[in-house]
Amino acid sequence: MKADKLRKKYLKFFEKKGHKIMPSASLIPQNDPTVLFTTAGMHPLVPYLLGEKHPLGVRLVDSQKCIRTQDIDEVGDATHGTFFEMLGNWSLGDYFKKQAIEWSFEFLTKELKIKKENLAISVFEGEGEIPRDEESAEIWKSLGIPKERIVYLGKDDNWWGPAGKTGPCGPDTEMFYWTGEGSAPEEFDANNELWVEIWNDVFMQYNKTADGKFKPLSQKNVDTGMGFERVVAILQGKDNIFATELYTTILKKIGEISGKKYEDNQKAFRIIADHLKASVFMLAEKLTPSNIERGYILRRLIRRSIRYGKILGINENFTSIVGESVIEIYKKVYPEVEENKQLILDELRKEEQAFSKTLERGLREFNKMSEDGISSKEAFDLYQSYGFPIEMTKELAKEKGIDIDEQGFYEELKKHQDISRTATEGKFKAGLADDSEQTIKYHTATHLLHTALRQVLGDEVQQMGSNITGERIRFDFSFERKMTPDEIEKVENIVNEKIEQGLQVKVKEMPIKDALDEGALAFFRDKYPEKVKVYTISDEKTGEVFSKEICSGPHCDTIINMGHFKIIKEESSSSGVRRIKAILE
Ligand code: ALA
Repeated sequence: MKADKLRKKYLKFFEKKGHKIMPSASLIPQNDPTVLFTTAGMHPLVPYLLGEKHPLGVRLVDSQKCIRTQDIDEVGDATHGTFFEMLGNWSLGDYFKKQAIEWSFEFLTKELKIKKENLAISVFEGEGEIPRDEESAEIWKSLGIPKERIVYLGKDDNWWGPAGKTGPCGPDTEMFYWTGEGSAPEEFDANNELWVEIWNDVFMQYNKTADGKFKPLSQKNVDTGMGFERVVAILQGKDNIFATELYTTILKKIGEISGKKYEDNQKAFRIIADHLKASVFMLAEKLTPSNIERGYILRRLIRRSIRYGKILGINENFTSIVGESVIEIYKKVYPEVEENKQLILDELRKEEQAFSKTLERGLREFNKMSEDGISSKEAFDLYQSYGFPIEMTKELAKEKGIDIDEQGFYEELKKHQDISRTATEGKFKAGLADDSEQTIKYHTATHLLHTALRQVLGDEVQQMGSNITGERIRFDFSFERKMTPDEIEKVENIVNEKIEQGLQVKVKEMPIKDALDEGALAFFRDKYPEKVKVYTISDEKTGEVFSKEICSGPHCDTIINMGHFKIIKEESSSSGVRRIKAILE
């Protein structure tokens, strides 16, 4: 079965079971301070798993673009990619275990025609106050899965979430497919890698709170995630994801450019294909390579591809050519890659031109240095003078059996730059927005700031991104030059004036078209579902509307007592984009 067909089949199957199809959300989680990228289909649904009403109802299905950089070192094996798609269906307080498992089983065996003899199951064995999940095991047995094929595993294996420190989570049941030769062993051994996990049904009924407690949620949810690339490979009888049409044309292109054979250079080919695919999708979100946070991850992926390109003997610029083959594969399903094609290819070219100049010299330098180990100061010099991400230096060093003092590197880095390890490394290990009162205030203040900026600087100001913690707002917007102190003061004054007036915040659900017709500001216009929430901040007495934005919330009801708004920093974020940091005192 072709990849496109699987995607459609999945959406249609669950649509027939009463689910509404949603478009994939952005790869950049909105208003989620502790995670850099969307790492699972449930990510954009957190507020709804916690009990907020979703505009599309209680049964949802989608195919979500995801990035997981934790697995970066495993890329090159049969099943890992930093970019992948996750097929998922959700029940928001509607159906639960029985229905979810029965539909998973029906989809696998009837729609995909996978033999139940090739399936095995794991369920949660229980821990502390949370009991062993006999109920799920019984449901699987009633469907004809023999008890030898069902194992009970602990929290490390059969518990999913929260994606960060706090948030929705619960026991899960995972489905495995036998990829070995001949018939599957009677007994399921979860440590045998020939059993590949293909789908996970999570029963999200707990909220992990900041003090480490598991509080029952007001509603019982189902969150499922199917590894799209893996299932495509299985359905096509391939033993690895790279043998499917989601990669083959990319690998072919790398072969043409390098003149090398894939069979002889599997790891390098796979790394380049995966990393440049992830890069294309990140660039399509208008991210650009930089030295911080998301931009840094993007830079690492592109630079690692370039190094592997060098290993293959490629001496010309190749990333944009490979990038084009990625766009060809995905342009129909994810039109944003085609719409941003020029920008994507230009950015790849720019990054490659900048890095190829220093890569060779840096490698020579590295070889000299490595004769007697690499000190953290030297690792820092490679970063500073030749643009080697520390992860690349570590990888090069590992190939020579040398250890790098990474901590020492960050200390060097800290001396030179205002960048901390937690900012670059910690965050993409995932995490969810806390919805503390202070964060909610900051979220509402962001809407005030957005409108104030447009009033002072003009309508060309568009939100390009935001990141909110309990301590501050970070807001990126399109604008060509530095703001003057006078403009900054004007923006602060407008926001503070509105806070003092105690405007009211109202939310209304409406079709996306009506929202845009009413002039509501949208962030990623083309990615909204049919029905959206519009938050309006207005003066109830005069009826005057100050701000109207499409947003999933949550927000304060009124903005009185929000504190005093202050811009603490205004700086360039990337070309044509400014960044403001602001606090409520
Ligand atoms: N959220 C679950 C996962 O990522 C479905 O596996």
